[in-house]
Amino acid sequence: MTQPLSIAVLVGSLRKESISRKVAEAAARLSKGGFSYGIVEIGALPLFNQDLEGGAEPAAWTEFRNKVRATQGVLFVTPEYNRSVPGALKNALDVGSRPYGHSVWFGKPAGIISVSPGALGAFGANHHLRQSLVFLNMPALAQPEAYVGHAAQLVADDFSITVEATRDFLRSFIAAFETWVRTLQPHA
Ligand code: FNR
Repeated sequence: MTQPLSIAVLVGSLRKESISRKVAEAAARLSKGGFSYGIVEIGALPLFNQDLEGGAEPAAWTEFRNKVRATQGVLFVTPEYNRSVPGALKNALDVGSRPYGHSVWFGKPAGIISVSPGALGAFGANHHLRQSLVFLNMPALAQPEAYVGHAAQLVADDFSITVEATRDFLRSFIAAFETWVRTLQPHA
């Protein structure tokens, strides 16, 4: 049997009741199969500090890099803070991008779901994240774009999506993301 492709899910919010985390859990459950999704936690990563590079680097940095490196794709699910990406998520990108020349992100296919309780669906965070992914050489799924607005009551306790149209949309997003990840796997 072939091994499932492993997806690192990075959630941009650290709070326990995060809507983004719930959307991430719900989206993973819409997989067609053949993929294994796991949230890679970013909340305990010490702030990136270049002075620590090459010396006694925090163990949490190494663990994080190893976890991401072992996956075949990355799904970002993030809220917007002040029209951009939350600092915790940017820090995780920075930590994973170093040491220079050994970025864990390089070439890894990505998908982005941005989430907000308001109407705009965290468009600003979604596109600021895309800007970093260009530099990190992470090919990010272009279409469909996923801006999930009015998300506060969207996910039930069993992680089902309560609005049918949104459920259908996220299912099609995950299907496209999985095709994207599969297509971009390096072949021997
Ligand atoms: C926000 N929020 C917010 N929402 C938005 O749509 N655009 C924004 O620019 C901001 N800015 C912002 C900054 C900060 C510091 C906070 C704490 C919040 C509101 C945000 O969307 C809301 O708190 C979400 O519920 C956060 O996502 P989680 O934690 O529920 O996943």
